Amino acid sequence: MKVRLIVALIFSMTLTVNAQTYLNPQADIEERVQDALSRMTTHEKILILHAQSKFTSAGVPRLGIRQLNMDDGPHGVREELEWNTWSPARWTNDSIVAFPSLTCLAATWNRDMSRLYGHAVSEEFAFRGKDVMLGPGVNIQRTPMNGRAFEYMGEDPLLAGEMVVPYIQAAQQNGVACCLKHFVLNDQETDRFGVNVNVSERALREIYLAPFRRAADKAHVWSMMGSYNMYKGIHGCHNDELINGVLKKEWQWDGALISDWGGTTNTLQAATGGLDIEMGSFTDGKVKESEFGYNDYYLADKFERLINSGELPMSVLDEKAARVLRLIFRTSMNTQKAIGSQCSEAHYEACRKIGEEGIVLLKNNSLASSRMKEGLLPLTQEKLAALASSSKRAAGKELRILIVGENATRSLTQGGGSSELKTLHDVSPLEAINSLLQAQRSQLSTVNYQLSIDYAQGYTSGRALYDQVDKVDPAENERLAKEAIEKAKDADLIIYIGGLNKNHKQDCENGDRESYDLSFGQNELISQLSTHKAKLVVVTFGGNPYNMPWIDKVDALLHCWYLGSESGTALANVLTGEVNPSGKLPVTFAKRYEDYPYVKFGAEAYPGIKGVKAEPNTAGEVPNSQVYYKEDIFVGYRGFEKNKVKALFPFGYGLSYTTFKYGKPAATHNADGSWTVRVDITNSGSREGKEVVQLYVGERKVTASRPVKELKDFAKVSLKPSETKTVTLTVSADDMQTWNEQAHQWQAPKGSYRAYIAASSEDVRGTEELSF
Ligand code: BGC
Repeated sequence: MKVRLIVALIFSMTLTVNAQTYLNPQADIEERVQDALSRMTTHEKILILHAQSKFTSAGVPRLGIRQLNMDDGPHGVREELEWNTWSPARWTNDSIVAFPSLTCLAATWNRDMSRLYGHAVSEEFAFRGKDVMLGPGVNIQRTPMNGRAFEYMGEDPLLAGEMVVPYIQAAQQNGVACCLKHFVLNDQETDRFGVNVNVSERALREIYLAPFRRAADKAHVWSMMGSYNMYKGIHGCHNDELINGVLKKEWQWDGALISDWGGTTNTLQAATGGLDIEMGSFTDGKVKESEFGYNDYYLADKFERLINSGELPMSVLDEKAARVLRLIFRTSMNTQKAIGSQCSEAHYEACRKIGEEGIVLLKNNSLASSRMKEGLLPLTQEKLAALASSSKRAAGKELRILIVGENATRSLTQGGGSSELKTLHDVSPLEAINSLLQAQRSQLSTVNYQLSIDYAQGYTSGRALYDQVDKVDPAENERLAKEAIEKAKDADLIIYIGGLNKNHKQDCENGDRESYDLSFGQNELISQLSTHKAKLVVVTFGGNPYNMPWIDKVDALLHCWYLGSESGTALANVLTGEVNPSGKLPVTFAKRYEDYPYVKFGAEAYPGIKGVKAEPNTAGEVPNSQVYYKEDIFVGYRGFEKNKVKALFPFGYGLSYTTFKYGKPAATHNADGSWTVRVDITNSGSREGKEVVQLYVGERKVTASRPVKELKDFAKVSLKPSETKTVTLTVSADDMQTWNEQAHQWQAPKGSYRAYIAASSEDVRGTEELSF
């Protein structure tokens, strides 16, 4: 009897131990996944594959397996929405920090900034109880019309890939999964649900898939979001060739593929085409709701029936459920997950620092009337005093600054679509410039002029509405422009703060821009302001390049992307020289829209054409329109160089308040086949500053089939005046591979190449010869 009792006890203990494998955080994650799977019913496996609310997918309460809480992304945690609608839940504790836009992060060219960003933003997600952050995005900025470019990281796959990796690593270290957007070819918002992208295999591999691959290989991103658009007639959310073929089989990626909201259209395709979690189905964009319940989802009851009837094998369901369980164990059931924090001082500081480093100084004319060698910027007290005395107003004892433009006061964290944020506290440019300039002036006893700062809105753009352009009375814009021009007559210095914003058809989801020009009469306004005697500094916000017919008439130009909650502080610090700008462009600013490489191919190449006959796919769908990436791999600067077209401001360009001298580069071949290029960089000016050093590589004898050169590495170096540091850059043989369309595989580089050490894609400072 006693023995029996002991045996029973041991047996039950073993059972308990076994029972806990999937709950044991110390156990191997694959064992946990298999253990959990073995305990789940078919129905429970199905339940975890689709939404149970707008932003959550179910767990298995019976087994203590937790649900996944998701939220947008990527610049901060979106406000809480109601369980089953797109309406705000009206919480009072969900106001957060808005971080700078991802284009701004890319413009820092600083991997440390990316790590800081990923760490800080994921702490906010963790604090709000989120497991999956819907972002970041690495779709390629092939057109300056793309309404969502501000959520991505520029035109170059290496820059985007390198810059996204530390963000993901840092976020996932906090137990928050990144959901990398939008896999793949979601490079325009026009007809995003119905456009079929026709792209060569080579451009797909070398340009569009490349940043996703880096994130999969180097950062092991835990989830990705499928795209709405089609490729070969099949939507990105269940595109077998891309998801199963490339992502899961070829790259051996072990994460979960989550659909974009409403991006799933068919059960069989979803089941067999690689989708793991279906979200947001049957919502008409963001506005209409329907009777469609969560059981009606494509990966819900319909899928279960296919499994139960044996039409699809259990292995199809298990493969998906395993990926979702892995994601759950990595995040919602991760015992190491950070508690996080919201609106901490550290987060505001991170926001400000990233913003300051991403601001790009594009133009800075010297101040002819002063003896100073520097440009008009930074607006130091000495320079302002010089401006006051040259104006001779009140015997040189008064300086009038006029700030013009809606973006000086407008909240740029609102609008934009899914990345819209509800912030706790934002600093506007007007507020920050005003207080910083006044404070600096009052600190200096030597300054003996009165400083007055006035404001004129200059134009209005209306409200940021979803999918709708607000009506603006042209007479109102005329009145505002007139008022600004009138006030400008009395100004000594004008700081114009405009650009794009987050309105529909500006930088906003579900619609592209309609013109390369700035809207709301800004070009005319800036041109008019430039005719006054006052010095004119132009500051623009926006995720895209734009036309600048007035560029020769302005004294200085700063481009700020979107800077988040600390927008004003970051801008004011750069304007006044507290911070030396060091951002460089992650995208080419063309002189004319026609210069973008795809434009010469007409509407076929962008935004696509309707009426092309196509075979229906297995779900009976045909694309609504077709777009053909006719510029092929020659996207951005690759195309400008091939077409021998000079940019207005090239990729990689950005000025500093100091200057840098480049030494002669020296290359060494490493045992693993890679090349290292070293170059000495000296700060030859009088201010501390940071320089982004870029390594491009191209064929020694350039052939038509390859870009003149392509970015292969970059580094940001901080230097005190007269200081020299050696910068080390590397190019691996892997990064030199090209895609062979005939063999459908990567081809190792062979032959003679040239390494270009450059300050921008058009500013080469030295070369070295390489061979592979
Ligand atoms: C967007 C996604 C976003 C999702 C949820 C979609 O319309 O394309 O990027 O994460 O909505 O808001």
